[in-house]
Amino acid sequence: MTLSAERIVLGVSGGIAAYKAPDLVRRLREAGAEVRVVLTQGARAFVGPLTFQAVSHQPVHTDLLDPAAEAGMGHLELARWADRVVIAPATADCLARLAAGLADDLLTTLCLATEAPITVCPAMNHVMWRAAATQDNLATLVQRGIDVIGPEEGSLAEGESGPGRLTEPAEVVRRLIAAPAAPRTAGHAPKSGPLAGRHVLITAGPTREAIDAVRFIANRSSGRMGFALAAAAQASGARVTLIAGPSTEPTPTNVERIDVETALEMHAATLARASASDLFIAAAAVADYRVADPVTHKLKNSREQQTLALVANPDILRDVAALPNGPFTLGFAAETEALEEHARHKLTAKGLDMIAANRVGDGMGFEVADNTLHVLWPDGAVTLGPATKGQIAHDLLTIAGEQLDGAG
Ligand code: C5P
Repeated sequence: MTLSAERIVLGVSGGIAAYKAPDLVRRLREAGAEVRVVLTQGARAFVGPLTFQAVSHQPVHTDLLDPAAEAGMGHLELARWADRVVIAPATADCLARLAAGLADDLLTTLCLATEAPITVCPAMNHVMWRAAATQDNLATLVQRGIDVIGPEEGSLAEGESGPGRLTEPAEVVRRLIAAPAAPRTAGHAPKSGPLAGRHVLITAGPTREAIDAVRFIANRSSGRMGFALAAAAQASGARVTLIAGPSTEPTPTNVERIDVETALEMHAATLARASASDLFIAAAAVADYRVADPVTHKLKNSREQQTLALVANPDILRDVAALPNGPFTLGFAAETEALEEHARHKLTAKGLDMIAANRVGDGMGFEVADNTLHVLWPDGAVTLGPATKGQIAHDLLTIAGEQLDGAG
């Protein structure tokens, strides 16, 4: 699929990542979109209108009160023209102004005046990203049906490291293609339900750790439980982001799915989004180890004994649970014996709010449709099932929702 004939207004706000925006214009056009660029005053300090004019082959829009521009395509016309508005990079200031509903420049006015879906691609310093004000503004925008792509983890312009990097233009285009433009009210959380207004982040499926160009280490997880939880959370009114390892399960309707392969990729994708979510459910069967030194070619069969050196992967769930002001955390414990004892230990050791334990082995747990879960939290416990993963997912979310509401 492409963005064929889609009319995209690309808003660029004033951050260092603005230098990547001309590349995004080029890639959007290559995907078939017609692009018109709106620059904020701050953006112009980083990249000039002529650059954008050259790559978009269209006049660039900069001012709200410019009679010449208004005589061409005025701001209301531009707002009606758009099939989709994408803002990349969206700075902390830009998110704040959108959340406040300001209309004192062309970009914010256009966002108020358009009925097209809006996608923001935040990029900023990692401390600014984690700031309560930024996260509150983002939550407000998400609640209003605005889509968010990124930011990604990594090194930032100031030489520091953390979540704040603009998602690479090629990935932004891939994600826009994967989520076709739909009216802003559709494709998002139903307005009612026990999790209405909540953002639920879920990891699901196995991870794959490369040994060489064609071989990998994986596990038996089907991803079914995590996908069932994503569907149930969506049906309960939440906005849902599903970070999925390789799985053949279909993406539940109206769920944002981010595909990853390795534990490190899953860790980065999750940590970049965890602070902005209310409930994090770690349903993925993450490989505890990865190959220390995977080779890029195919290893030859020498018929000799081989030894694979492994190094520990980060624990995604533990890292999310350790975040200051992080989400309510719900982990899973797949155990072959001493189920409750091991699960309660994990609840405390990883600093979780809740854990769901299931017995695996002997045909139970992985790759099967029915399941039994023992759910534990610091001052309570309940057993769910045996029932289908769909029913269990619904019941588990009900319990998690109650505890989440209790936690404020
Ligand atoms: O310690 P154990 O692997 O049994 O913990 C299982 C729980 O921790 C699951 O919720 C799983 O998704 C999560 N986990 C994780 N990252 C890891 C290992 C486990 O998020 N590297």
